[in-house]
Amino acid sequence: MPTHTLPNPQAFPKDFVFGAATSAYQIEGAVHADGRGLSMWDSFAHHSGRIADGSTGDVACDHYHRMESDVALIQSLGHTAYRFSVAWPRVLPTGRGAVNTRGLDFYDRLVDQLLARGITPYATLYHWDLPLTLHEQGGWLHRDTCRAFADFAEVVARRLGDRVHSYATLNEPRCSATVGYLEGRHAPGLQDRGMALQAAHHLLLAHGLAVPALRAHTRSAQVGVVLDVKPYYAADSGADTAHTVQMADGVFNRWFLDPLFKGHYPQDVWVAEQGHQPLVQDGDLATICQPLDALGLNYYTRGHVVHDATLPFPHARELPVAGASYTTMGWEVFAEGLRQMLVRIHQEYAPQRLYVAENGAALDDSVVDGRVHDPLRVRYLQEHLQACAQALAQGVPLQAWLGWSLMDNYEWGKGYTQRFGLCHVDYATQTRTPKDSALWLRDFIAQHARAR
Ligand code: FCB
Repeated sequence: MPTHTLPNPQAFPKDFVFGAATSAYQIEGAVHADGRGLSMWDSFAHHSGRIADGSTGDVACDHYHRMESDVALIQSLGHTAYRFSVAWPRVLPTGRGAVNTRGLDFYDRLVDQLLARGITPYATLYHWDLPLTLHEQGGWLHRDTCRAFADFAEVVARRLGDRVHSYATLNEPRCSATVGYLEGRHAPGLQDRGMALQAAHHLLLAHGLAVPALRAHTRSAQVGVVLDVKPYYAADSGADTAHTVQMADGVFNRWFLDPLFKGHYPQDVWVAEQGHQPLVQDGDLATICQPLDALGLNYYTRGHVVHDATLPFPHARELPVAGASYTTMGWEVFAEGLRQMLVRIHQEYAPQRLYVAENGAALDDSVVDGRVHDPLRVRYLQEHLQACAQALAQGVPLQAWLGWSLMDNYEWGKGYTQRFGLCHVDYATQTRTPKDSALWLRDFIAQHARAR
């Protein structure tokens, strides 16, 4: 008998959708097919020397060539929604200018396939694959990139229009800026605090410019953004640690939520970032703070930290939690943090709707006699869906839960060493095998459908 409470399918509203998410560079492969341009991730994967297993996304899950059977797989798992991203360099090979129709056709076919199988499309416009040409011109440090992004959003919306249920401008601007421009573990591999904050500002501005572009070419589609969120907890009771928790929360969560929903950067963090503050022009915050239809949250883990003055701001040292379970990413499994973030964001920022855009666990999975037994992931899903049910009971307008990920894929700087999929991928044969967790989820979704 499980020691945790199982989620009740009936706790989810009738129109609630369940599914999974992916992103273009992580699954598509086919990096030279049909006129696709290069992105900064192609270059980073090939040349930075910073990918754990030295791999690239050149082939990945070969989804570009297997899209139809992958959509059939999604349907067979009972999913009622699917979140994908549109590769900017497939559509605009140098980031702006002439549209590569063949690249756009791919997403057009994908959306049609999804709709034909009763699966609601969620599209993300920027999941980190900045066209290399734009990167070489300054990338997210360069203000012109914001306008180029809005133009790209317009091209996509003109073609896909209201067939997409929900558009997200950006995936995780926090991660793009911090991991790409401060920690240097992701493309473009820079390590500069001021650059990271400038990149973050330009990402937010790009979002703000893209929102009206999307609205101009859609009527019913929801328009929003996807943020990664992480609650911070103090691992000791010192005043220094309490301050570090506040600042870590400020840097990770409020630096993005406040401008998007309140039209200003958080004052405490702004002051603390003295010397690294971004250049913000008059009117930028009004552009960034647009009414949104939906906010997507990516949730994986919490931060359990103490103050450590030897570390850079916000001086947060992560400490392990005794007795907790961890994924192969080294992330603590902590479902209560999801409930807490959903409730907090609903109360403090009041987005019209929320959805869980990513949520999942990387584990050491293997296929044995055609099956993948992943009891830890089954439990992860149960606990996190239960957290969603609790948030719904507390009045959070949650509309969807999308797991990360549909299938094992290219996990950025970790290459192919991390298996996040609901389906196992054998990269030598491209065989997809639904794991036990995918089968459990399929039954859960079926119960939800029957109960309604
Ligand atoms: C998120 C990313 C996603 C995936 C998961 C594990 O930060 O959005 O692409 O890598 O982490």
